[in-house]
Amino acid sequence: MIGRLNHVAIAVPDLAAAADQYRETLGANVGAPQDEPDHGVTVIFIELPNTKIELLYPLGDNSPIKGFLEKNPSGGIHHICYEVDDIDASARKLTDKGARVLGDGKPKIGAHGKPVLFLHPKDFNGTLIELEQV
Ligand code: CO
Repeated sequence: MIGRLNHVAIAVPDLAAAADQYRETLGANVGAPQDEPDHGVTVIFIELPNTKIELLYPLGDNSPIKGFLEKNPSGGIHHICYEVDDIDASARKLTDKGARVLGDGKPKIGAHGKPVLFLHPKDFNGTLIELEQV
């Protein structure tokens, strides 16, 4: 069912410092910051030859990243995103297998304008998994 690794999302306490580090120290192709008010984050996309990294920084008071950074003050891997062909079929299969889809269980439009859903980390070895239909 799952295909390519679409991205790894890393929550960071200092977006400008993290972008500089990826650009200068790691020599990566770092994009410009983009505010995603619907998702409560400011995102920087980093294009790698085989996948993307997303640097996440809280935007607004209800950001889902805020609590994560309080628990992980130096930042950390927040989620990984796998590609799927059919997100509705994937959601049905996962629910049938007992996995919990976060929120109301329905796919939402994600940061890339494509349908996404998130799976409960306790059902997947402590890892928050995003599925994105491509
Ligand atoms: Co993501």
